[in-house]
Amino acid sequence: MIIGTPKEIKNNEYRVAIAPDGVKEFVKNGHEVLIETEAGVGSGFSDGDYQKAGAQIVDKDELFKRAEMIYKVKEMLPEEFKYLREGMVIFTYIHSNAFRDQTDILLERKTVGIAYEDIQDKDGNFPLLKPMSEIAGKGGMLMGLQYAQKINGGNGLMLARVHGVRTSEITIIGAGIAGIGAAEIAVNLGNKVTILDIDLDKLEKAKHILPPNVELLYSNGKNLEECLKRSDVLVNCILWPKWRKDHMVSRDLLKLMKPGSLILDVSCDEGGAIETCRATSHDDPIYIEEGIVHYCVDNIPAAFPQTSTYSLCNATLPYALQIANKGYERALKENKYLRKGLTCYFGELTLEETGRKQKRPYKSPEEVLNIK
Ligand SMILES: NC(=O)c1ccc[n+]([C@@H]2O[C@H](COP(=O)([O-])OP(=O)(O)OC[C@H]3O[C@@H](n4cnc5c(N)ncnc54)[C@H](O)[C@@H]3O)[C@@H](O)[C@H]2O)c1
Repeated sequence: MIIGTPKEIKNNEYRVAIAPDGVKEFVKNGHEVLIETEAGVGSGFSDGDYQKAGAQIVDKDELFKRAEMIYKVKEMLPEEFKYLREGMVIFTYIHSNAFRDQTDILLERKTVGIAYEDIQDKDGNFPLLKPMSEIAGKGGMLMGLQYAQKINGGNGLMLARVHGVRTSEITIIGAGIAGIGAAEIAVNLGNKVTILDIDLDKLEKAKHILPPNVELLYSNGKNLEECLKRSDVLVNCILWPKWRKDHMVSRDLLKLMKPGSLILDVSCDEGGAIETCRATSHDDPIYIEEGIVHYCVDNIPAAFPQTSTYSLCNATLPYALQIANKGYERALKENKYLRKGLTCYFGELTLEETGRKQKRPYKSPEEVLNIK
């Protein structure tokens, strides 16, 4: 198969889908790898590094013309739509639900879209989301240190323990991968940290990972309200179901928070757990609603490409190799976990969540692949 990895063009996106070591794996398995000129520079890989690993360096037009599978990081942006063609495999974070125009064009051009974020493992976890969640949780907390600063639009609190001064309080909702990552940074700087979760097993697990001064609370209305009143920072790390229309923190509840406090919406779900969240970019990361500073960047790991590129490649490469070695049809038929990520297939939408949310027809991956 011919695999093509373009340079990412999303705002401040410095990650790249494949590291030179990954190129070697494809070449060893008899595939051709095309890398767009300078696709890896943001992550510390030169064109020469890729050439040494066996890749060809080409321009964007040639890459999209020749590649059978586009292996990238972020969703396809409008500037890239012209390159889509029938049967082209798009293996990336697609977020079909959030980006309707992209979903339209992926369907119209009869592509085979496989979304990283929807691939599951045997326990129902999301293995290609997990590595980025840890970096987003930790990175989001680091961004919090910056946006609490007066010079950056915050209330001027230093989110670290300083003797003789009240210690800042941070509430994290969601004790999953991102939440634990955020807590590790917050607590190690000496902040008072509370984590809320509805899953008691997750809270118990957190007890063994985090120091004993972290408060682990069951997530209910009363506990949430108490935390909102006393916290300087609220970090949202919940994976909010896409079909839910209600919110955990409504606009009204924001009034309980101290003026000038900060919401770090790592989950970054518009219309999700935090009613007032809308996605922002690294260029323009914060806005103020009801006197509360909101930070809602939807690609936090992009700020840490030298870490996140490796972490992402480690997770995606085994699936990309399966698709290349077996061909997309056999790989999808033989691997029911990979199949969970199938978003569109020759003009048919195959992701139920997007079908339901966008009120458009969808079929199951099994139906379009003729799996009895
Ligand atoms: N902004 C970014 O750049 C970025 C990058 C990666 C991931 N993310 C997002 O981060 C979010 C978290 O991902 P994760 O991998 O940590 O998920 P996860 O599934 O590991 O954790 C989510 C946690 O939320 C808990 N939860 C669910 N409902 C709750 C409620 N009502 N109250 C309290 N807790 C509740 C769950 O029990 C679970 O422990 C996801 O939405 C993901 O898309 C964002």
